[in-house]
Amino acid sequence: MNIRRPRRNRKNEATRRLIRETNLNTERLIMPLFLMDGKNKKEQVASLPVAYRYSLDHLMNEIEECIALGISNFMIFPAVSESLKDRIASYSYAEDNFYLIAATKIKERFQDITLISDVAMDPYSSDGHDGLVKDGEILNDETLPILGKMSVAQAKAGFDILGPSDMMDGRVGFIREALDEAGFTETSIMSYTAKYASAMYGPFRDALESAPKSGDKKTYQMDPANSREALIEAELDTVEGADFLMVKPALHYLDIIKSLSDQFELPIAAYHVSGECAMLIAACQRGWLDYQKAMPEVLTSIHRAGAKAIISYFAKDYARYMDGQQVNV
Ligand code: PBG
Repeated sequence: MNIRRPRRNRKNEATRRLIRETNLNTERLIMPLFLMDGKNKKEQVASLPVAYRYSLDHLMNEIEECIALGISNFMIFPAVSESLKDRIASYSYAEDNFYLIAATKIKERFQDITLISDVAMDPYSSDGHDGLVKDGEILNDETLPILGKMSVAQAKAGFDILGPSDMMDGRVGFIREALDEAGFTETSIMSYTAKYASAMYGPFRDALESAPKSGDKKTYQMDPANSREALIEAELDTVEGADFLMVKPALHYLDIIKSLSDQFELPIAAYHVSGECAMLIAACQRGWLDYQKAMPEVLTSIHRAGAKAIISYFAKDYARYMDGQQVNV
């Protein structure tokens, strides 16, 4: 007879709950939302049916519903019309930028939430790249002053945490200095520390129409085959003053989440990206998987790997699930 019988600890739900190592609370979730200019607009993202592009009025309602379910962290991305894009992403820090105006209004109405921005040129760039493009090359240092202006404008608008997402060098240090010089010492930085050149961003680029016009992002985003390089990135971001280290995508990079959370003291965030959500939705819509069961399992695995904060388009559905509601896609 076996003396050790691990099954004894699985015998009923009460016992399983008692010994459960990972409990994912709704408080750990960050809901990403797409904002568009205008009024009374709500457009479903075809390749990511749980997500919509909202005009501010609808976005406010969505935030209110999420707050009622216990979500207090929101990451907002702007869908900018092609006519406002240029080579230098000048709209990103323009006075009349709808994204910046919206942030101020959202924070006026909901004081207790955390608003997280995206700092990168791609939503505003006519080249669709995250940096300045010259003769087909994506420039590193020449992009910095643009990111500095964008960051200060976002902090001024009321964003609590800035998310530099271009995966180029020296971002966190430069932005930290720009913020501090402008008096925004309390504005945090969630650095996209280990962001991979992944095929999983497709639906996001559909949502924002932000795909690169030529080439790919492999000279700045990380090679999916590498893990040690993530440690170098994490070291640099830590030294440069990041407040959070992010791994992105999440599900296909659980080993990276684990290794950063084992080796660094800063809180690890993980971005469960659009393509990772879309895959699950597609299978659930075909009846091949059960959303009510698969969705919480996926999010729990990201937390188990070591992520403290999780960005997912499923955040609201997870909160509904935790509230005892039946969720479907
Ligand atoms: C761009 C940015 C991207 C995402 C977040 N910020 C796309 C990209 O790098 O091309 C992707 C998020 C997702 O797929 O959900 N700076």
